[in-house]
Amino acid sequence: MKIAILTGGGDCPGLNPVIRAVVRKAINEKQEIIGLKYGWKGLLEKDIVTLDLQSVSGILPKGGTILGTSRTNPYKQEKGAELAKKNFKDLGLDALVVIGGEDTLGVATKLFNEGLGIIGIPKTIDNDLGATDFTFGFDTAINIVMECIDRLHTTAESHNRIMVVEVMGRHAGWIAAYAGVAGGADCILIPEIPIDIKEVCDSIDKRHKRGKNFSIVVVAEGAFFKDENICLQEKKLDEFGHVRLGGIGHTLAEMIEKKTGFETRVTVLGHIQRGGSPSAFDRILGTRFGIKAYDLLKEGRFGKMVSLKGNEIVAVSLEKATQKLKTLDLKFYEMTKIFSS
Ligand code: F6P
Repeated sequence: MKIAILTGGGDCPGLNPVIRAVVRKAINEKQEIIGLKYGWKGLLEKDIVTLDLQSVSGILPKGGTILGTSRTNPYKQEKGAELAKKNFKDLGLDALVVIGGEDTLGVATKLFNEGLGIIGIPKTIDNDLGATDFTFGFDTAINIVMECIDRLHTTAESHNRIMVVEVMGRHAGWIAAYAGVAGGADCILIPEIPIDIKEVCDSIDKRHKRGKNFSIVVVAEGAFFKDENICLQEKKLDEFGHVRLGGIGHTLAEMIEKKTGFETRVTVLGHIQRGGSPSAFDRILGTRFGIKAYDLLKEGRFGKMVSLKGNEIVAVSLEKATQKLKTLDLKFYEMTKIFSS
């Protein structure tokens, strides 16, 4: 078999462990494997790299992706899908392993439906992909955010300040809620529930009245105020029709300071959350996903995505997996409320 592998969309820690697992398995079984550079762009431009044991040596602890990534969408280009199919054939490929989030895997689903041999692997720090309990990248991101919240606690306490921490996650509150609980945040605001600013300020006031003179507020970038629009960083859309989120932290901090009278500061964690070495959990999950993806392609079970269900790695339909965004489990969010007063 001739196999190709690509990574698309935003990078996240754990991509290299997946690439390493697929390549190691393929080489062990004497298959030929190549990498397509910069996501779908690599397939459209036949930008390839040969992968062997040497190319994946030492990459397990490295963040990012050795293949590079982009948000190129073949379906946004004139005859892009035709070109992708032609190049798949020209390169003599039998199978393509696509590592991506909802956008990259959405393209994978369409190309599979048009006849290409594709297996999907879910990745994203946002953990917002349906059909898998967790994506790799998420665990590392929440550990980074947790550490930052720990650090903000000590300075907040010294200065009697409110610290607003803006985190990523797009339209899902997974990062905010999980890292907020792990870091002991006093208030967690998520996109799934519009912000009631009065409620937020009342809970901070209540806390301060019982003797606390600092508070940590974690807000997801996709959160928005009741009756107002989401805070946008940029109105321009990317090739998948997404706006860039961000900015809610500053708006929120200004409102809190004005309404409570407490000095308030903002930290926007941004891409720090996506960088650096993957956690042990993400290295292991990435490795297990990579091996399962190889097994599926060897069995010719195309059109599947590997997924974590409980502690099992299973195969689910790519079509189903990309149908719906997985927003935060509201039962988990309810639990966070006991810490917010
Ligand atoms: O989807 C991952 C993610 O990091 C989101 O949490 C965030 O909104 C977005 O990507 C940022 O994208 P970019 O790297 O293009 O700024």
